[in-house]
Amino acid sequence: MTIHSTIRKTACITGATSGIGAAFAKRFAKQGYDLIITGRRKEEIESLSNTLSTEYKIDVEVIIVELSDDKEIALFAKKIMKIQNLEILVNNAGFAKENFFHKEDFSTYEVMLKVHNLAVIKLCHAVLSNMVSNKKGVIINIASLGAFFPLPINAVYAASKSFIKIFTESIYLELQGTGVKVQALCPGMTRTDFHEKMGFKKNTYYKDKGLMKAMTPEAVVEISLQYLEKDKVLCIPGRSRQLLSYLLRFLPSKVIYKMVSSVMHK
Ligand SMILES: NC(=O)c1ccc[n+]([C@@H]2O[C@H](COP(=O)([O-])OP(=O)(O)OC[C@H]3O[C@@H](n4cnc5c(N)ncnc54)[C@H](OP(=O)(O)O)[C@@H]3O)[C@@H](O)[C@H]2O)c1
Repeated sequence: MTIHSTIRKTACITGATSGIGAAFAKRFAKQGYDLIITGRRKEEIESLSNTLSTEYKIDVEVIIVELSDDKEIALFAKKIMKIQNLEILVNNAGFAKENFFHKEDFSTYEVMLKVHNLAVIKLCHAVLSNMVSNKKGVIINIASLGAFFPLPINAVYAASKSFIKIFTESIYLELQGTGVKVQALCPGMTRTDFHEKMGFKKNTYYKDKGLMKAMTPEAVVEISLQYLEKDKVLCIPGRSRQLLSYLLRFLPSKVIYKMVSSVMHK
């Protein structure tokens, strides 16, 4: 006789309104997880929530949270800290704004660092004690391929993403043998709402081949989960991007600066 557990498992995904976050939400819904999803575009995220709860017969809680707001993030962290059966945390929310560093309003960077870095470590800190005592859990922090090299006109974005990469690799080492898995997911160009928000036209911006080929968020999520199975902390979806990150370890800085500058001035 099989005894089914009545304790349901929960996954929490930040920035699940669209793109990679929404793809993670769909994937975990399909696996039967109840969801806690955050975003700011109320209509869009509620529509996703209704679709997922109807289609997969799961509970979905939508939390509208501005992750750069100290009070809102503190309340949200407190909430997820109390969820004993939280098995998965995906720190996905993020944004970019292309501009020369000195020309951009400084407040953009304050928001960016709060969303990409402070919110990420706060939420990891909030859930890890429970995960360690439960001897299981998964944290996926979304960095970027841009975590591996300097990115002019995206300087703070690249720096904030390399923070996520190093932070995640460090806690991965701390958590060896605890049963908790951690991943820094480092996607390259992915078809989401990300670039449209930056002012680019989706249809003309994305490429179909080469290093700049845009992947679907669903493909990124599948690869992330395959890497998680193998307990690999760094996940760079796409062969050409993996090769690039590998080559970057051996190329002299001068060559890397030239490559990056030539792409920027295209
Ligand atoms: N797309 C790419 O090519 C690419 C490449 C490398 C890394 N990434 C990373 O992947 C992650 C997901 O991005 P995406 O491409 O899926 O873009 P997206 O479709 O624009 O989704 C971004 C999500 O983050 C949320 N968000 C942004 N700023 C926020 C804030 N201040 N407070 C709360 N939520 C906020 C958005 O909420 P609302 O929309 O509801 O405001 C949205 O749900 C980001 O961390 C991004 O840096 C993307």
